[in-house]
Formats: sequence, structure tokens, C-alpha cells
Amino acid sequence: MKTLIYFFIISSILFNDPSTGEEATFEDDSGVNDMGSSTRRKRFFWGDYQSPAVENFMKYIGSPYNTQSPSVDFFSFLRDPYPLPKGLKEPYSEYDFVIIGAGSAGCALASRLTKNRNITVLLLETGKPEMILTDVPAFAPTFQATDYVWHYYMEPQRGVCLGMNNKRCFWPRGRAVGGTSVINYMLYTRGRPKDWDRIAADGNYGWSYNDIIKYYVELENANLGGYEKQPHRGRNGEMPVEFVKTKTPLSNVFLEAGRILGHPTVDYNAPEELGFGQIQVTISNGRRYSAAKAFLHRHKNRPNLHILSDTTATKILIDPQTKIAYGVEYVRNNLLYTSLVRKEVIVSAGPIASPQLLMLSGIGPQEHLNSHKIPVIHNLPVGRRLYDHICFPGLVYTLNATGISFIENRELSLRNTISWLQHGDTAYASPGGVEGIGYIKTPVSDDPEPSVPDIELINIGGSIVSDGGPGASKSVRKGMRITESIFDEAFGSIDGTDTWSTFPMLLHPKSFGYIELKDSNPFSHPRLYGNYLTDPRDVATFVAAIRHVQALTATAPFQRYGAKIHPAKYKPCRKHTFDSDEYWECAVRTLTATLHHQIATCRMGPAGDKLAVVDPELRVHGIKQLRVVDSSILPRTISAHTNAPAMAIGLKAADLIKQTWNI
Ligand SMILES: Cc1cc2nc3c(=O)[nH]c(=O)nc-3n(C[C@H](O)[C@H](O)[C@H](O)COP(=O)(O)OP(=O)(O)OC[C@H]3O[C@@H](n4cnc5c(N)ncnc54)[C@H](O)[C@@H]3O)c2cc1C
Ligand SMILES: *[C@@H]1O[C@H](CO)[C@@H](O)[C@H](O)[C@H]1NC(C)=O
Ligand SMILES: *[C@@H]1O[C@H](CO)[C@@H](O)[C@H](O)[C@H]1NC(C)=O
Repeated sequence: MKTLIYFFIISSILFNDPSTGEEATFEDDSGVNDMGSSTRRKRFFWGDYQSPAVENFMKYIGSPYNTQSPSVDFFSFLRDPYPLPKGLKEPYSEYDFVIIGAGSAGCALASRLTKNRNITVLLLETGKPEMILTDVPAFAPTFQATDYVWHYYMEPQRGVCLGMNNKRCFWPRGRAVGGTSVINYMLYTRGRPKDWDRIAADGNYGWSYNDIIKYYVELENANLGGYEKQPHRGRNGEMPVEFVKTKTPLSNVFLEAGRILGHPTVDYNAPEELGFGQIQVTISNGRRYSAAKAFLHRHKNRPNLHILSDTTATKILIDPQTKIAYGVEYVRNNLLYTSLVRKEVIVSAGPIASPQLLMLSGIGPQEHLNSHKIPVIHNLPVGRRLYDHICFPGLVYTLNATGISFIENRELSLRNTISWLQHGDTAYASPGGVEGIGYIKTPVSDDPEPSVPDIELINIGGSIVSDGGPGASKSVRKGMRITESIFDEAFGSIDGTDTWSTFPMLLHPKSFGYIELKDSNPFSHPRLYGNYLTDPRDVATFVAAIRHVQALTATAPFQRYGAKIHPAKYKPCRKHTFDSDEYWECAVRTLTATLHHQIATCRMGPAGDKLAVVDPELRVHGIKQLRVVDSSILPRTISAHTNAPAMAIGLKAADLIKQTWNI
């Protein structure tokens, strides 16, 4: 039945003439730094942005997402709504717990707390519920142009993001029931055991790998061609973890070449060995599995779980004398409400909004809060540290064979749409063309631990040019906000052709940034500083990684396809000879792309840790009945994309909270 509806909608869209039906008002979003006040909502530009297929999808189904008023929503039947329980028009004025943010961590936490029907939970979320198009893995980058994301931009910083519009890197975050897991690339990674053991060794009791693996096992429903039988995998959890159904021949080329250079083909999430492996994703039957789909959808009928979408928390209420958090202020349909808690307020708004909300509520660096005239309740280093994972998408190889990589114009066809609907296969089911992961330790790594890699190679069955060519969406380059002229000079000659690439991602940067408030308006965006590549060791690691990829592509499996490095020319790098170390440094500084794993802005650490915001039980230091539960608590870099860790944090927090309240 559902398949039939999909089919009807999608085919009717595809057969419609895209030139009819003028709808949305368009506005340029480049350089936009704040969303304005609660009454001024931005509309985003759809046209000129998509391939004909995507454009038609968006035009007919997407445009209602940009309506000014959330109450005018003709297409709500296509969404996954979360109404209040029958007979309830307004939420209660008091709950046991209020959770702010229905993201990866917040959804997992809410599902576990409300298992006990005596416990009432209010879950507040700024964004909207998912819809059928967010289910399509191939459309992941497309959603970065919609109001399913927060349009944050990093501040302009010297020597990085030089090839991006206004020299600013784009930091989208999910804004949906399901949070960033609704718009992410669905790659499933857990981190190395040593990463977690180091977190525990800092005094964070209960966070060693042996503690955390329990939650990974709990959340997983792994179906990985036999890997799921290993003891470290889970088969009874809510979150499907699978291989991608449709792959290019290049997927095996990468693994073969890896083996030649001494990288075994492994389950890269296994605790034992470093190696290369096929990508594992939170996709099932070709459909995205967000945290909401896994943890909330099935519990819609719980009378004790109230979910309010289109609702933004603006302040945590804390008694300045007792320092007890007792409620939350939130805005819904332009009205301000208050909800009180009997037990705790839990902030799960993600690594940017969680520290922002703490600071707005009087918890943060004293001087900084003073400068914005925010009364200080507790002085803590909120936002003072921020790690991120950046990668370099410009290492592109041309091939002498055609038809062996994902090319949007070839793959996103009507025939493949139908096949995706029926079988969940084709490029529509691909997480942006990612096919594998390889963990490597470059010769410049100064980490004494042999099992901790310094680079992750993200193997792509194509490259940054695969979404180009006549009429194609160019959604990946646009998602990164790469300047058109820089892109065209570098890659115009091979746009839309068969290529291979791998994005080297820096796992343990020495450089770190911070977050500050711009002002005291809860609807402003904070100021974001990545400080990328300020430590020269990070640059050296990138260059070493690029050299390793060159060795990889020199092997026979790649040479069977005549793999040849593309000598991209970048305006800022004209003075450097192609392939010199200086050239690569400049190239990385030009195409500095984040993988969006910002962490540590509400850092966890024991009492006495000068950088800590929350304690090892995620309670905000110095405040009672207030916790932070999301990826912002991670105190150190981990060798992982952060969706699975965030869900594990949510599940662990549920256990900590149940212990505290004996529920
Ligand atoms: C484009 C992109 C691709 C990514 N790809 C991957 C990947 O392939 N694999 C992977 O593991 N990780 C990936 N990540 C990272 C990963 O998805 C996130 O780190 C993870 O989802 C974070 O979970 P969280 O619970 O900390 O926060 P989020 O999931 O971001 O949840 C925070 C929620 O709080 C809401 N919120 C914020 N402020 C308020 C407020 N004041 N009131 C109410 N609600 C509020 C937000 O709208 C959001 O829904 C990607 C991230 C991005 C942006
Ligand atoms: C819920 O509350 C009732 C009455 O106080 C109690 O008997 C019951 O054991 C509680 N259930 C759970 C799961 O805690
Ligand atoms: C590609 O190049 C390799 C190595 O030069 C060669 O063996 C192979 O036949 C070429 N393939 C095609 C399709 O031209």
C-alpha cells in the first residue's frame, strides 16, 4: 500500500512539466548568519538548485515546507506526524522530564524513559517531522538547501574554506524530528576501543569501550552478511545496520588495493583490527532510518510521551539561589509557553544549540555572559572547546572506462526510481555514493597506540564531479558551498564524467575551535569558530594521507581502470607546482570540507576538570536536575562519525537517569 502511494506520487511528479506551477518566493541564503526573530522566517531557494528529477520532487512536495505558517501544511499527510494523545489539546503544564531536541540522542533517550508508563516526558523539537523524500538516501545533500537544516556558517577564518562562498564553511545541522539523523549520510561507525578507553581514563567513569559497546549492541539490528554473528554486534535493536545494496565495481577495487598495501578487509566496527571495509549504513530496504524512525515512530501510542514539533525552547528555568533547574520556556506558533519539571530538564539540542541554550540560561563563561548582559547563574567553560572532523574532497581520479561509477545523470532515472520503490536498490539507495571506509595510520602519526588511526578514507564510487553535467543537481558542491568559479576552474573539464575519489578525513585534529553567543536572542545563530588547520601537524597529516592514496591508486586494481590523478587548478594555489606538498596544503585550505562532527562544546569531565561542563553522569556541574545528553558531551575526538555515538549516549543517559530516580 505504502509502495503504491510512493509510486503514485513519484511518478506523477516525474511526468509533470517542471516549468508549470510557479510557487515559492525565492531568497538568496548566501552569507546568511541568522534566522532573524521568531516572526521572521527565511524561505529557501529551490529552483536552479536541483536536477530535473529532484527539482520536480521538491517543487510539488517540498515547497509546502517553506510556507510561512506551520499551520498551512497541505502535505502533512505525507509526513510522519506525532500528535498529542487523543483528547489532549494542550500539553500538560508539568512533566517528570522535558527533553529539548529530538535528535539522535534525544530520540533514543525519550524511547527508554517512557518505557515506564509512570514517567511523563515532553520532547520539544524546532523542526518538522520527516517526510517521504527524507527517506531517499541519495537525496541527503539536497536537504541541506531546505529548512530541514539549520543554516549555520562558520565565521570567516584565515587560511581555510578559501574556496567557499564568502570564504565561510557551511555547518548545517538537522532540524527535524530525528535531528541530524534525518539529513545525514547514514554512515555507521562506532569509534575505536582506545578512543573510549581514553575518555574513561580522564576520570569519566562508565565510558570505557566495554561500557559503551553494550549500548551499540542494544541499539543495533545488524544484518551484515555474517558479521552480525560476532559477539560485538547486536541483532535485536531498533536501528538497522546494513550494507548498501547497489555498489559500483570500484567498491571492490578499493578493498583489493587496500589488501595489497597491507590493510585487511574487515568489519571496520569490530574492536580488533584496523582495516578497510564495505560501508555499513543505517538504511534498510533502501530507506533512511533516522533516530526518529527507530526510536519514536513505534512508540507513538505511548500516552506518557508528548512530542511537540515546530517548537523551540528558548530558556532553561533555573532558580539562581538553589541552582535547581525547574522548567523550560518554549515558543510555539509565536506564543511563549512554560513547562515545569518534577525531575529533570535534559538538553539534547546538539553541539551548537545545546551550549547556546545553556549560555542563554545563565550557564557559561562569566565574562562572556556579562558582555551580553545575561545574569550569570554558574560560571562554566561552555562552548570553549570544539573539535570537528574535516576532510578533503578534491582528490579526484579520472578513469579510462565508462559506466563504472555513480553519475547522477545516468543513475537518477525513472527506471531506477521504480526499481528503488520496489526493491530498495539502485543509486537512490546509496548514501551519496559512499561505498567503503578505510582506517589508516600515516607515517606522521604521533599516537603511540597502534590501534588508533589518524585518517579515515571515505571511499566513493564517484567523486565531487558525479552530480555535475547538463541539468544535474550539483547538490554536493552546493551543500559544501563551494564557489562556482573555483569549482569550475578546478573540475569543470571533468564535470559529470566517470571518476573515483576518496575523501581523507582527519580523525584526531590537534586544532580546536570554540562557540560564542552573538547576542542574547535565542533565535540568533551563535558565532562558530572551527580554527581548522591552525596546528601545522594537521596539515602534515593531510599531506601524508594524500601520499598514501597515491600509493593505493598506483596498485594494479586501480590501474586496470587507468586511474589517473586529476590536476585540479585552484585560484588561491596558482603559485604552487601541482602535486608538491605546498600545493596540497593550499588545496586542503581551499576545499576545507567539514563532515559535521562538531563535539565537546558541553564537554564531559570529572569535578576539578577545568574544561568540563557536565560530569561523567552528564549532570551540569554546579546545577541540580539538569543534564546535557547529545554529541556535545564527547570530551575528545573519536575515530567515528558521530550519529551512532550520539544514539549510544542517549541510551546510556537513560540508564544513568533511571538509576538516579530509581525508576
Ligand atoms: C550533513 C551531515 C552529514 C552527516 N553524516 C553523518 C554520517 O553519515 N554518519 C554519522 O555517524 N554522522 C553523520 N553526521 C553527524 C551526526 O548525524 C550528528 O553528529 C548526530 O546526529 C548528532 O546527534 P545529536 O543528538 O547530538 O544532535 P542532533 O541530531 O543535531 O539533534 C539536535 C536536535 O535539537 C533540535 N533543537 C536545537 N535547538 C533547539 C531548541 N532550542 N528547541 C528545540 N529543539 C532544538 C534540533 O533541531 C535537532 O533536531 C552528519 C552530520 C551532517 C550535518
Ligand atoms: C507505577 O506506579 C504504580 C503506583 O505507584 C506502581 O505500583 C508501579 O509499580 C509503577 N510501575 C513502574 C513500572 O514503575
Ligand atoms: C585502461 O587502462 C589500462 C592500463 O593502461 C588498460 O590495461 C585497459 O585496457 C584500459 N581500459 C580501457 C577500457 O581502455
